[in-house]
Amino acid sequence: MQNEEIQAAIEELLQHVPDARPAFEPGKTPIPASGKVVGKEEKALMVEAALDGWLTTGRFNDAFEAALGDFLGAKHVLTVNSGSSANLVAFSALTSPRWGKRAIRPGDEVITAAAGFPTTIAPIMQFGAIPVFVDVDADTWNVDVDAVARAITPRTKAVMLAHTLGVPFDAERLAALCRERGIWLVEDCCDALGARWNGRLTGSFGDIATLSFYPAHHITTGEGGAVFTSNDELAQIAESFRDWGRHCHCRPGQDNACGRRYSGQYGELPEGYDHKYVYAHAGYNLKMTDLTAACGLAQMRRLPGFIEKRKQNYAYLHNGLAGCAHLRFPVTPEQADPSWFGLPVILKESAPCSRVDFLKALNRRRIGTRLMFAGNAVRQPFMEGRPYRVADVLTQTDLIMERGLWLGVWPGLSQEMLDYIIGSVQAILSA
Ligand SMILES: Cc1ncc(COP(=O)(O)O)c(C=O)c1O
Repeated sequence: MQNEEIQAAIEELLQHVPDARPAFEPGKTPIPASGKVVGKEEKALMVEAALDGWLTTGRFNDAFEAALGDFLGAKHVLTVNSGSSANLVAFSALTSPRWGKRAIRPGDEVITAAAGFPTTIAPIMQFGAIPVFVDVDADTWNVDVDAVARAITPRTKAVMLAHTLGVPFDAERLAALCRERGIWLVEDCCDALGARWNGRLTGSFGDIATLSFYPAHHITTGEGGAVFTSNDELAQIAESFRDWGRHCHCRPGQDNACGRRYSGQYGELPEGYDHKYVYAHAGYNLKMTDLTAACGLAQMRRLPGFIEKRKQNYAYLHNGLAGCAHLRFPVTPEQADPSWFGLPVILKESAPCSRVDFLKALNRRRIGTRLMFAGNAVRQPFMEGRPYRVADVLTQTDLIMERGLWLGVWPGLSQEMLDYIIGSVQAILSA
């Protein structure tokens, strides 16, 4: 079959796949707080990738990485199989012995936020470094650069922070601080693809940055993520950690790209030991498959529209709820152009119900909500018995853990749904 015939057959096949979106019935149709918008374009490319039968990472992944690189303005993009893997790879890249004194070693300190997602913190502890938790600000749900500066000690090797729910922190000032102090900066942009600070995209300020493509995120591949950087050496090391820790850079299916496959001498290995099996790092295999990448490639074409729709939904929901005196809304710094992941709110003490009753009441109306992920990570079971340091206090983090939540703004929400959310929140809180 010729390529055109295959394309036509795929088109024909997709005609028979219904775009299942049931009519919205308030109180009956679930309104998830997050979700994916995946249609015929994604399915067509995934079928094409399946028909290639390549299965591992290949031409679709190359195209996806290139499209991401163009959007991000990043020299190097490495896809991985999740945002958590992206954080693991980005962090691991900073532990390479190739960095000499700058390398993070077990026992070194890494500054982060306790209000966030657990796998921003997990790689720090898995490696044996010590997370140092800085409080966030309850207006932006982000850390303040001055608080990070106060937390720095001679043992600090890195700052690893997420741009919370699509609101950028002041990465410009933080990156300058980190450069001045010889500290690495990892920007976790998993929830903030497309967010800008002073007109510049998040992820472009620090040394290395990460993305997640889990369905809740700005684009999806189901499971998936990416690491990006414009530092050549960091990219090479990150790739090694992603790809089994190998020393060689041959792509799957490629041999002897360096031309020295049988002529090198590495470690205490015999001379000429096959470069394909020489390992520079104790790495992982976290690569993305071509089927997954095909979905991401199609999503890239929609990304600007998705970001815009999230902004519109945020504005609509925010305006609709602005009169609600029991809710505290985010305050966005003027340099910030958020790429909203959700609408974060804090239920004030004045509210007629507790946070849990508020969540339950929304749930009864089939309206999905989310908390600020792990809340205050220090209070999570996984932290029991772990070494960590709290830089100062975590009072605002506790406030967000106890009274914070976020509502959905994802592109799949219709105006009817948003109106129903607004009406429901008003009804519950005016009871
Ligand atoms: C800030 C942040 N970092 C990392 C992750 C992990 O991404 P994944 O679920 O793709 O592993 C998430 C997940 O939503 C996240 O919100």
